[in-house]
Amino acid sequence: IPVAPFDLIVFGGTGDLARRKIIPALFRRYLAGQFEDGTRLIGAARAGLSPVEYRLFAKEALKEFSAEYDENSEGLEDFLNLLDYVPIDATGDDGWEELKTKTSTDRVQAFYFSVAPSLFGALAERLNSYEIAGSQARVVVEKPFGRDQETARALNATLAEHFDETQIYRIDHYLGKETVQNLMVLRFGNMMFEPLWNNHYIDHIQITVAETVGVGGRGAYYDKSGAMRDMVQNHLMQLLCLIAMEPPAIYDADALRDEKLKVIRALQPVAPHHIVRGQYEATDTAPGYREDAGNLRSFTESFVAMRCEIANWRWAGVPFYLRTGKKLRARTSEISIIFKALGHSIFEGDTTPHRNILSIRLQPNEGIDMTVTVKEPGPGGMRLIDVPLDLTFAEALREADAPEAYERLIMDVIRGNQTLFMRGDEVEAAWGWTDPIIEGWEARHDVPKQYVPGSSGPEDALMLLHRDGRRWRDIKA
Ligand code: BG6
Repeated sequence: IPVAPFDLIVFGGTGDLARRKIIPALFRRYLAGQFEDGTRLIGAARAGLSPVEYRLFAKEALKEFSAEYDENSEGLEDFLNLLDYVPIDATGDDGWEELKTKTSTDRVQAFYFSVAPSLFGALAERLNSYEIAGSQARVVVEKPFGRDQETARALNATLAEHFDETQIYRIDHYLGKETVQNLMVLRFGNMMFEPLWNNHYIDHIQITVAETVGVGGRGAYYDKSGAMRDMVQNHLMQLLCLIAMEPPAIYDADALRDEKLKVIRALQPVAPHHIVRGQYEATDTAPGYREDAGNLRSFTESFVAMRCEIANWRWAGVPFYLRTGKKLRARTSEISIIFKALGHSIFEGDTTPHRNILSIRLQPNEGIDMTVTVKEPGPGGMRLIDVPLDLTFAEALREADAPEAYERLIMDVIRGNQTLFMRGDEVEAAWGWTDPIIEGWEARHDVPKQYVPGSSGPEDALMLLHRDGRRWRDIKA
């Protein structure tokens, strides 16, 4: 469905995120016919480029990062012609009057702050003082949204000086992923799961976000963050919230975010022995984390595994095991709900405890599988085996062209739908939970355990579950 003409202004329009994600996402939405005539896409950055040069920049970006790129297609040319550019000084006065002439206050204006958070205040202030932002203006900001609760609070306060919370869109791109949204439909669109979704029936939950890439190329940023700030505080927490939250009465932005916030507030502090941090080692052929990070004394983690508890009526006693890391065996994000074993088996000789396991594969190979116990075929009596009931979305739905996270999120901004964006209090609460953990490491000078690239992380991470008589699900593609 096309949307009424709008203006999208990308500050940091020549940056990495613009190249990799924003421009390709806009291109796909353009090709899908969602932009009506009159829509304006404007890059703004310090570089003194002309609009023509910016189009060339965008063309290169699409060539590298867009599967739809076709050198000679009309669509490409038309899309590039939509792009405009304004050289701008975020902290000075240059460019702002020009920007003002290129956008109108009587339509939806999305200002995408794809810049360092230290510039948010300067940008927000100028959008108002130059009277560029109208009543339908929206501001889009990216992670990292602060590096702890205090800095997140300060950022929220800065943005709040110039914009209302209903105008602020904090992106966590995991929320834009098709299967992440499916978590909610699975839980609240089916009768069969929700009655079992509690500590009476669930033994524990595992959330794994494993990557095969290292941090090469982003070392300078990453070494100041580590897996906890880069992945856990945002993406994994969001997954945890969607799995654990109470059903909102209605699927709308505040109802949903209220429920997520309650989960974060119920998260217990994590004891040091319930966390394992790791760093990938060097191999004969590849540099290790410390070389990639450009810091040979780095204590930053490229892997973290932890046991979390949610102290509320539904989840008391059900551990949530979270793990994420770089250079692991496979790229896979998966949530597994491991149900309790049967209390009693009527089948004589059947001594293995059978458990139903519901796995939600977020990426790649999106789908759901459910381990069910059946009779092993054959005449040998009642022997039981566990087999998966597999629902692979690509096969079942034949939906080849689901929009990618950034496409959906950008269009949600234009439509004014905040459901898949983080509210200010939610981000602050999430930092409130991770801060003491990180401060503890710093105070103790905690040294991450080394792990072999291509493995499933440090040995200690396996022990974290073994100690509880459990084991991680395999990391496999
Ligand atoms: C980003 C992190 O937010 O998410 C990266 O900064 C990480 O370190 C990326 O690689 C993972 O996203 P995806 O969509 O590839 O799972």
